[in-house]
Parts: sequence; structure tokens; C-alpha cells
Amino acid sequence: MSSSRPISLMRFLIEEQRAHQHINADLRLLIEVVARACKTIAIAVGKGDLGGVLGEAGSGNVQGEAQQKLDVLSNEILLEANAWGGHLAGCASEEMDDPHPIPDVYPKGNYLLLFDPLDGSSNIDVNISVGTIFSVLRCPDGVTEPRAEHYCQPGTAQVAAGYAVYGPSTLLVLTLGHGTHVFTLDRELGSFMLTRRDLQIPAQTREFAVNMSNQRHWEEPMQRYVGDLLAGKEGPRGKDYNMRWVASMVADVHRILTRGGIFLYPWDRKDPGKPGKLRLMYEANPMAFIVEQAGGRATTGRERILELAPTALHQRVPVFLGSRDEVDAATRYHREHDAAGA
Ligand code: AHG
Repeated sequence: MSSSRPISLMRFLIEEQRAHQHINADLRLLIEVVARACKTIAIAVGKGDLGGVLGEAGSGNVQGEAQQKLDVLSNEILLEANAWGGHLAGCASEEMDDPHPIPDVYPKGNYLLLFDPLDGSSNIDVNISVGTIFSVLRCPDGVTEPRAEHYCQPGTAQVAAGYAVYGPSTLLVLTLGHGTHVFTLDRELGSFMLTRRDLQIPAQTREFAVNMSNQRHWEEPMQRYVGDLLAGKEGPRGKDYNMRWVASMVADVHRILTRGGIFLYPWDRKDPGKPGKLRLMYEANPMAFIVEQAGGRATTGRERILELAPTALHQRVPVFLGSRDEVDAATRYHREHDAAGA
């Protein structure tokens, strides 16, 4: 940052509109409303045990996962904040089976908002960073009651995407298709301030992020790729790698955006029916958009994530994202393996 005072999110959005004409009033309102909801979630996360928000909610989501109290609360905060502004045609959440309609008493807009209200739930109770991930699509023309199929658009159709990290500081990372930008919450002012413009992920890295406990379940090209990273300087990659795994995608991706790295959540044989752990619409697509806008890459190990044609709202996919050259290398291991078997 230069010594000049950082500008607010609102001013950033207005100046971006002047520069590129890509943010109309509804989209600006949408981003501001999501940012405000993230501030409310940050307050709840920050209160921890004092706010009575830790622990399980006693319910499960559509994925069959136990919901934490903060999953439920964050979902309600986002739904409520976005109900009345007139900017949305509907919302879809990782925590809800079906899309959520805008109540009839309020006007409707042209955007669809998808979110993972609290990513990294297993970290809530142990005071490790968690976050919110969101993606914005246009509602197809003429659709007033959007159903799941209307949300199932490829990642290339995203108008905006972002995530908040509730960590030592609260951050909002945002792309509207013209670069990836970081805002830091000034807790005294209650405003997100622009602290990094046009973030660029280093193209090369010596750091990887993966849950190694799944190693025995990986397919062969993934075994070979990570085996070669672990072989270090003496191996075919010719350098020593370090490993980090927070188990909150927002925190792992934020580290990679800041200093480079590769994030891997591949398909594995533990549950062969599941094509991966992470969800395309709520996690993979928004993160892929953010990472590509920062000069990085995002693939399934084989295909570009943003070009996948979604088949279901809660679809899961393998995720390989981060530093350009490293993701290209990991993807090459998979493609070469497939070509050799073809
Ligand atoms: P959730 O949506 O339940 O919070 O899942 C968290 C995700 C993601 O944030 C993280 O990268 C990954 O799951 C962690 O998986 P492991 O439990 O396998 O470490």
C-alpha cells in the first residue's frame, strides 16, 4: 500500500463503473449488501463462545453433513440481507436443498446469488480462520421464478465472485472480471477498505496444499504428481516443496493468492461415487474466477473448471488451483496418464 489513505469498497465500485461500465446500480447494491452481511458474520464469528454460536446446530444439510450453529446463522444473515433490496431474482446456498425465492412482498432483480455461507466449518470451534464464498450470475431472460436449472450456468458466466476470510483481520476478496482486489475491514469505521489492487499470484511455487491423509485413495497420476513434489531437489521437479493445509478453503486460497502455491482436492476412491469433495457452484467456480483473474489457473486436473457445464446445483468436482505453472504441471500428469491409457 502507498501512504495515501485506502479507498472504501463503495468508492472502488463507483470508480470501477466509471472505468469499465460493468457495474450497474443493482450489481453495486448486491456487492455492498453481501459485504455488509459478511461484516455481520464476522461479528458473530468474533464473539465465539461469548455469543453462544459455537457447536453443532443439531441439523444436517443437503449434503448429509452436520451443520454448525454458525453455518445456520451465516446462511440466515445472507438470506435476510439479500431479500429486500430488489437486486436479486433468487439465492442458492450450499446449506439449502433448493434455491431460495425472493419473498413476494419485495421487488425482484436480475441477478442470482450463490453462496457457501461458512466455509471451513470444522475450524469454527478451534478458532481457526473460516470464511464466506459467493458467486453472482445473471438470471436468464424472462425467468421470474428461477429453479435449479437456471443457476446451473458455467463459471465463465459469472458476473462477480468473492470470498470473505474471518481471520486475524477480516478480508473481502472480490472480482468483477477486471482483476482481483483485496479489501480489509476497518473495524473502527465499519468499512471494507481497498488494500491490494490487482493481485497477481506468482506463476511458480514451492508450496502445495492437500489433505495427505487421503493419499492411499488417490488415482495414479495424483500419486505420481505428489510423489514427485515430495522427492524434492533430487526428484524430477528439481526443487524442495513445503506443505500447508488449513482445511478452510478460503484460508488456503488466500495464502496462495498472497504468496503462490497449489491447492489440491482431487477425486479419490474413498467414496468413488463422489466426483470430489468441493462443490462446483459454491466453491470451485467462484474460487476459479478469482484465481484466474489474479493470473492463476484452476482445473479439475483435466479440464478448466470455469468451462464445466454444471449438471446439478450441489454437484462436486475435483479442484486444482493456484500458481499457473504448477497447476499446468499437475494437469499435465493427469492428461499424460489419460493419453497413455487411451
Ligand atoms: P465445509 O464446506 O464443510 O466447511 O468444507 C470445508 C472444505 C474446504 O473449506 C476445505 O478445503 C476442505 O473442505 C477440507 O477438507 P478436509 O476435511 O478433507 O481437510
